[in-house]
Amino acid sequence: MQKNPTRDELLQFIRDAVTDPEFSRATFAGAARGAAAEWVRVVARPVELRGERHVQFAYYGAKKVVTKNFAPDQIDEPLTELLLIGFAGVHISTRTEEIDVRTSRKGKVLIGRRTMGEPRAAEITTHNRVKDVPLPEGRADHLLEVMGVANAEGVVRPTMRAKFTQINEFLKQLTHALDDTDLTKLNREIEILDCGCGSSYLTLAAHHYLNDVLHVPARVLGVDVNDEVIRKSMDRADRLGAVGLNFECRRIGTADVRADIVLALHACDTATDDALAQAVRSEAKLLLSVPCCHHDLNKVIRAEGVLRPVLRHGIMLQRTADLVTDAFRALALRIMGYRTDVVEFVATEHTPRNLMIRAVRGGGAGRAEATAEYQEMKRFWGVTPYIEKALGEPFQQLVKATPL
Ligand SMILES: C[S@@+](CC[C@H](N)C(=O)[O-])C[C@H]1O[C@@H](n2cnc3c(N)ncnc32)[C@H](O)[C@@H]1O
Repeated sequence: MQKNPTRDELLQFIRDAVTDPEFSRATFAGAARGAAAEWVRVVARPVELRGERHVQFAYYGAKKVVTKNFAPDQIDEPLTELLLIGFAGVHISTRTEEIDVRTSRKGKVLIGRRTMGEPRAAEITTHNRVKDVPLPEGRADHLLEVMGVANAEGVVRPTMRAKFTQINEFLKQLTHALDDTDLTKLNREIEILDCGCGSSYLTLAAHHYLNDVLHVPARVLGVDVNDEVIRKSMDRADRLGAVGLNFECRRIGTADVRADIVLALHACDTATDDALAQAVRSEAKLLLSVPCCHHDLNKVIRAEGVLRPVLRHGIMLQRTADLVTDAFRALALRIMGYRTDVVEFVATEHTPRNLMIRAVRGGGAGRAEATAEYQEMKRFWGVTPYIEKALGEPFQQLVKATPL
């Protein structure tokens, strides 16, 4: 293709790319020329509808997302509209190539192409295909529909894509972590507590996945301080006719609950610490927690000495405080007798809050090495993390018992 193609040539080039069997995704983005456009970004990908290949366009506006599906012979109209908007860049991925179409302010078009070393797996969402994930998409699914994640045909709503991916990845972690425990060998139902359940995506999904897919009998209780989300969750549980799925409106840690597994996905700020403390008090065998926003240490960590250049900048202070908070949490769980590690549970594009604390009970409480590390951390940062308060007297006794 010539260096500065006409609009018709460009239309044909992009049409050929998105209708090619190897096509996997195209993103139209970058400041549009001229008047402000209604859409800030448009993403095209192949979908299979009623056995025929189509291209789905997801139009992202400031406050809404609209999706439309087009058969290959209808594609010229939406593509012409997109070219008229004049996005500065179009990035096209196929199984074998990455293509970049850049339009300069003066209207000059440059096309760059890079061949992939290894061809990627074909990426097409079909209505019949079952993906190898806990909650597959692309087929009618009552659970996903009731959750509001997918429409009646099983097509995941673009605004719910990130949550859908988070839940699937969380469930994968749950499945792997279950193998580290003997919970599936209990002669009773597993008791699961979801702390800060919100609109109960994870709660409903975990209940369904364990009971109906893995056939591991489990009861799940979701708690949240917000009575509106609890009402919504109860309504969803009713619509699903789910047995052993309950919700309570209250603060985490305010009731004596027996839990074999404690889950917390994005429980705000110190609510994560309360969830961790609840897991320890319940002697839960397994804890999976993905912390959310942190504020507690932000306010008290001082930008002093060698750390001054790092901590004087708000964003770097916040990130450091996040890491220090989670390091204290993981260490405190070790002290309380949990084998603990911290992993990235999902790619950053699905949520920037993607760090997961995984803890399996069994490791001997109060190991001297861990308590010594904890005291040293506290001294270095000059703070007392909220997790210490949440874990209370039993934890403080263990830490005190270690000679300095
Ligand atoms: C960001 S939402 C996450 C909801 C859900 N886990 C999810 O990932 O979709 C955090 C939820 O935690 C709840 N929450 C915050 N502090 C809480 C506390 N101390 N006790 C119970 N719920 C709390 C909020 O009401 C909110 O619904």
